[in-house]
Amino acid sequence: MDVTRLQRPVIAAPMAGGPSTPELVAAVNAAGGMGQLAAGYVTVEAVRQQIERTRSLTDRPIGVNVFVPAHPDPRIDRAAVEAYRRRLTPIALRLGADVPEPRWDDTDGFEAKIALLEEAAVDTVSFTFGCPGAQVVRRLRAVGSQVVVTVTDADEALAAVREGADALCIQGAQAGGHRSTHRVDAIPNDLSHLDLLREVRSVTSVPLVAAGGIADAQDVRRALGLGAAAVQVGTALLLTPEAGTSATHRAGLTEPSLSRSVVTRAFSGRPGRGVRNAFVDELDAYAPSVFPVVDQLTKPMRAAAAAVEDFHLVNLWAGTRWRQATAAPAAEVLERLTP
Ligand SMILES: Cc1cc2nc3c(=O)[nH]c(=O)nc-3n(C[C@H](O)[C@H](O)[C@H](O)COP(=O)(O)O)c2cc1C
Repeated sequence: MDVTRLQRPVIAAPMAGGPSTPELVAAVNAAGGMGQLAAGYVTVEAVRQQIERTRSLTDRPIGVNVFVPAHPDPRIDRAAVEAYRRRLTPIALRLGADVPEPRWDDTDGFEAKIALLEEAAVDTVSFTFGCPGAQVVRRLRAVGSQVVVTVTDADEALAAVREGADALCIQGAQAGGHRSTHRVDAIPNDLSHLDLLREVRSVTSVPLVAAGGIADAQDVRRALGLGAAAVQVGTALLLTPEAGTSATHRAGLTEPSLSRSVVTRAFSGRPGRGVRNAFVDELDAYAPSVFPVVDQLTKPMRAAAAAVEDFHLVNLWAGTRWRQATAAPAAEVLERLTP
C-alpha cells in the first residue's frame, strides 16, 4: 500500500494493549483511511488470528505494527529495577496482584512476528522503538509489504532511510502512548509533529506520515501543507465503539477531575504520554529507563486496577488533545478529520 494514495489521508495508529481491534481497522478502512493492528505485547498466534479476523472484515490494505526490541544493554541498572519493584509491591498487594520477577531477555517475539508477517504479506508493516535492520526490511519488501519506521528526530529518520524504509511516521511530542525514541534511555525532545516535519523533510524525500495531537481537519490541513503524505491518529479513535479501549481507560479519559497529560516512564520504563493520575504522581520520579522490564512489573497490578475500574492505577495513554476525543463511530471521526 502506498500511503500517498489513500482515499482519506488518515491512518489509524496501531495501539497495543487493547485499543486496536480488527473492527477498528475495518471501520477505518471502510471510511477510506487505513487501519493498523498492533502486534506489540501479544503472542505471535494472537497476531495471526487478528490478521485473519481483520481480513474477514475488510479487503482493503491493512498495516501491522511491531515493536523493535532493545538490544540487551549491559548497563541496565538492575538495582534500580529492584528498588522500583519494592516501591510497587505495596500498591500491588492492595490490589491483590503480584509484582513478577523481572525478565531481562524479552524481545516481544520479534523474530517470530517477522516470520509471520513474511507469510501474511500484509500491505504495510510499521515499526516503533527503532529500526528493524536492513535485512528485515528486505525480507518484508520481498513479499510486497511497504515498510514504515516511526522516528522522533532527523537522525532516526536518516537511519531508517539508510535501512530502506519506504516511508516514515514522524511522531511529535504531543503523541499519546509511548514516544518512539530509538533508544530506551533517550530523553525525548519536545518537537511537535509540525517542527519534525520541517526538520525531517530537509534530510529526506521519502513519504512522511505525521502523528501526535492531531484532532481536527485544520491539524490535518497544516500537516499536509508541510508535506506530510498522511496523518496518523491514535487518541482521536480511543473512545470510538470499534476500539477495544478498556472501560477503565475510557472512564479516565472522560473524568473531569483529570486535567493534564504528562510524559512518564512510571508504567513501562519508556517515556509515554498519558493523562496524569495518582500512579504517575506517586511513581514518576522513581521509574528506571528499562523497557519492557518495568512494563512487565506493573502489568498485573494494572490489570487488577482495570478490573475494578480504578483509573488512578492504570496507564491512561492519550495525546495532548484527548479532550477532543469523542465516542462517535470511527467513520465520523475520519469525516471530522478530513480537510
Ligand atoms: C493507547 C495508545 C497505544 C499506542 N500503541 C502504539 C503501538 O503499539 N505502536 C505504535 O507504533 N504506536 C503506538 N501508539 C502511538 C501512536 O502510534 C501515535 O504516535 C499516537 O497515537 C499519535 O498521537 P495521538 O494519540 O495524539 O493521535 C499508541 C498510542 C496510544 C494513544
